[in-house]
Amino acid sequence: MIHEQVVPFLDLPRHHLEFAPAFAEILSRALATGQFIGGPEVAGFEAEFADYVGAAQCAGVGSGTDALRLALAALGVGPGDTVLTVPNTFIATVEAVSQVGAAFEFVDVDPLSVLMDPGQVEDQLKAQTKTGKKPFKAVIPVHLYGNIPDMEGLRELSRRYGFILVEDACQAHGAARGGKRAGSLADAAAFSFYPGKNLGALGEAGAVTSTSAEVIATVKCLRDHGQKQKYIHRFEGTNARLDAIQAAFLRLKLARLETWNVRRRAVAARYDAAFAGTGVLPVLVPEGATPSRHLYVVHLNERDALAAFLGERGVRTGLHYPIPLHLQPCYAHRGGKPGDFPNAEHSAARLLSLPISPEITDEQTDKVIAAVLEFAGRA
Ligand SMILES: Cc1ncc(COP(=O)(O)O)c(C=O)c1O
Repeated sequence: MIHEQVVPFLDLPRHHLEFAPAFAEILSRALATGQFIGGPEVAGFEAEFADYVGAAQCAGVGSGTDALRLALAALGVGPGDTVLTVPNTFIATVEAVSQVGAAFEFVDVDPLSVLMDPGQVEDQLKAQTKTGKKPFKAVIPVHLYGNIPDMEGLRELSRRYGFILVEDACQAHGAARGGKRAGSLADAAAFSFYPGKNLGALGEAGAVTSTSAEVIATVKCLRDHGQKQKYIHRFEGTNARLDAIQAAFLRLKLARLETWNVRRRAVAARYDAAFAGTGVLPVLVPEGATPSRHLYVVHLNERDALAAFLGERGVRTGLHYPIPLHLQPCYAHRGGKPGDFPNAEHSAARLLSLPISPEITDEQTDKVIAAVLEFAGRA
């Protein structure tokens, strides 16, 4: 069968097979109790996820985009403020900034890890001070592919320059740096539980984590129309609540997250060993960082040819992300042009994401490796 020969990029049906009976039980319970919004499953998941991350508290919300937007709002980022982030991320990182009424600017990334680089951030902070512009209110490092940038360096800058630090941890469930997990490394962090993430819901979901009880209390209020008590609205919020059944699914899956991440790391280690010296260059994982291995991304000049070659051999691949945000059509009015952020642009033209998941079998991994090596031999 053709299907058996294909190595899918992700295999969500297979990922969820083991849970089918438990998921059915959750649905029956929800139908029996009628508890669809809030309640013990949401509170239980929030406590367990905060504990897992090592943050004091957690607020479940509707998506990773909601998490970023409500974290920024709760930290007081709004109209008149400017937020600094990287151009090589999913658009939600900056959508959230625009949605709170703030402006954003980009800083280029480290060429090998493609992560935010404190050295370049500091240059930009100094330039901002020199021009007499209002200092950046917040900085959002993105833990791209599940790799955490130098958060110690960024925290030191945040103390010195007085900006707020928010982790975009949407790809970094279980990733760590310096022994601390993503979600516990800044003023607040945003997670996505989009189905394909390392911890995914069966639909849309997200969470904010923070050591500040006040930030989490404000996010909980904002996600529920600014009300703490029914029909008494402290401020204008939105509807960005985490569904009770999604919270129950996530609680079950959270118990397996570490095992899944270990499997992802083992697959990545096999890729690393196989590709060493071939010219197929894996994105650098910074020293001292434990990656979540959400994505396994390589760089090479002949990226499009490799993608086509793998496609012909039944190996599905992805691009994360092919166009940096400063060159996206929707931001054309900002005047971004090629050459503005050379490292992000260089990476966008050369990156390719290979299949990685807890479900990928050794045989499938072998097939990916053999196809990449065959291509590298020819190229
Ligand atoms: C880096 C990054 N930020 C933000 C998001 C937004 O998350 P969601 O799709 O749950 O809104 C994602 C999810 O794709 C992401 O990968």
